[in-house]
Amino acid sequence: MLIHGAAGGVGSALLQLGRLAGLELYGTCSLQGGSVVSDLGGIPIDYQHLDFVKEIHRLTSEGVDVVFDSIGGTHIWRSRKALRPGGRVVAYGLTGSLCGGRLASGRSGHRHRFRAIAIFGLYIAGGWLLPGRKRVVPYSIQWLKRLRPALFRQDLIALFDLLQQRKIKPLIAQRLPLAEARQAHELLGIGGITGKIVLVRNGSSPRSGAA
Ligand SMILES: NC(=O)c1ccc[n+]([C@@H]2O[C@H](COP(=O)([O-])OP(=O)(O)OC[C@H]3O[C@@H](n4cnc5c(N)ncnc54)[C@H](OP(=O)(O)O)[C@@H]3O)[C@@H](O)[C@H]2O)c1
Repeated sequence: MLIHGAAGGVGSALLQLGRLAGLELYGTCSLQGGSVVSDLGGIPIDYQHLDFVKEIHRLTSEGVDVVFDSIGGTHIWRSRKALRPGGRVVAYGLTGSLCGGRLASGRSGHRHRFRAIAIFGLYIAGGWLLPGRKRVVPYSIQWLKRLRPALFRQDLIALFDLLQQRKIKPLIAQRLPLAEARQAHELLGIGGITGKIVLVRNGSSPRSGAA
């Protein structure tokens, strides 16, 4: 399995789940995230200096079974090239369209969203039409909650069970008071954060762990 943004909040969680499932794991990250990825059982690939498609084919020859792509846009198609026949790209974010926490294209949010959905649609269709049985499937936790609430609940219960049994341990990069939510977003926009930034309820101590 290849996870993009593997040192980030979602990426580090996917690594932990992949390790529990006994998978062979690869994760793209910047140079400073490399040790986090290897500590969580993944083989780091420095996306700023290496071509991840070539690197995956060098390391695995045939490619991987699944890519989790949080970068979005044309990056999804490159992720598809890292798959072996029959593999899946799970596309779930648009990190690549942001710059300093804002839309890099300068387009309005609605136009950007429309374009992103159109690109998703093309890639999903391409996955069905082109040879190789390599599919692109979108994932949204919000859609899951709205459209399949029972499945959403089942996933959440499974995750909280793993947390209670200490089988997963979310990486917390920093805790900030809720009033500093804007700063938290700006920090994520700058990049280089490993794990989650936790917002703590106003009035409780940032060290108490309440979030
Ligand atoms: N669909 C859903 O249900 C769902 C749910 C949760 C999150 N999301 C989305 O998923 C994305 C990731 O969320 P997050 O909370 O994990 O964010 P995050 O903590 O900011 O992590 C993003 C990671 O991506 C890395 N990155 C940036 N550009 C990259 C590239 N070109 N190749 C590989 N890695 C790259 C960053 O590394 P550096 O900072 O070191 O460059 C960072 O570690 C966001 O777009 C978010 O909106 C979607």
